[in-house]
Amino acid sequence: MKKNILTILDLTTEEILALLERAIILKKEWKEGKKEMSLTGKTLALIFEKPSTRTRVSFEVAMYQLGGQVVFLTKDVTQIARQEPPKDTARVLSRYVDVMAMRTYSQELIEETAHWASIPVINALSNKFHPCQILSDLMTVKECKGQIEGLKIAWVGDGNNVAHSWINAAIRLNFTLHLACPPGYEPDSDVLEKTKGKSNIVLTTDPIEAVKGADVINTDVWVSMGDEGKQKEKEVFLPYQLNLELLRHAKPDAIVMHCLPAHRGEEITQEVIEGPQSVVFQQAENKLYLHKALLKWVLLHS
Ligand code: CP
Ligand code: NVA
Repeated sequence: MKKNILTILDLTTEEILALLERAIILKKEWKEGKKEMSLTGKTLALIFEKPSTRTRVSFEVAMYQLGGQVVFLTKDVTQIARQEPPKDTARVLSRYVDVMAMRTYSQELIEETAHWASIPVINALSNKFHPCQILSDLMTVKECKGQIEGLKIAWVGDGNNVAHSWINAAIRLNFTLHLACPPGYEPDSDVLEKTKGKSNIVLTTDPIEAVKGADVINTDVWVSMGDEGKQKEKEVFLPYQLNLELLRHAKPDAIVMHCLPAHRGEEITQEVIEGPQSVVFQQAENKLYLHKALLKWVLLHS
């Protein structure tokens, strides 16, 4: 059966842990100079409706370094711009390429494409979820902390797509997730609905409570791609800024994470993002190796 990765919940606990292990090994092997061309002859189509630096480049380079090829498409250069139905695009591309990764506004569009495609479909970010990001972030947590189990991971800021994927990760893995979101900017209710009975996921409006004693602190932009038209008052978000004062409440060896791009002076201060606890560039680097592991898994089942 083809494997889609539309949300973290498409993966079992064992599959997530195995992917992280493989990504860490792939990183080590690459750094040791060991090359593998296991995806020779395979082609990835990237279909992006929104801008991207990290996700696009790391998927492309992952494919190239494994011997495969990439076709990068934006909406405006395809017939998608002229309303060709997703079910037709999905069935056509399935006849040319071996795997698709999509970045869209609508999660439903990725789901519809996956339904009609006969090849694996990967969510490279939608308004609702960013599963690949959280998988590579879990890899970074594992590298930095040696384990994921038992950690306290905090989220401060908007209850957005990245927060949603962290929630899904906490449904699958044994860490505690404390999310502090401003009133009115909580994660979506359908995402929270799935956490019923999970005592390891705690939602609060108090950033200090979320960060207190945390091993890992995460934040993200206050205005995500697609949110630009929404009225989001800066004042409402300011108490959730990840600054040195807030960081003081975490464990002294806590790591600071941000999927990037970051807005310094808004959700995170210059001192914190450039400070010794920040692992944001390790996070960005790990996207390459996690994407390699993902591509191998969906294409070769290995
Ligand atoms: N973190 C992330 O997805 O970055 P890009 O938008 O640059 O891909
Ligand atoms: N929440 C952000 C993440 C960017 C990688 C957005 O969707 O714009």
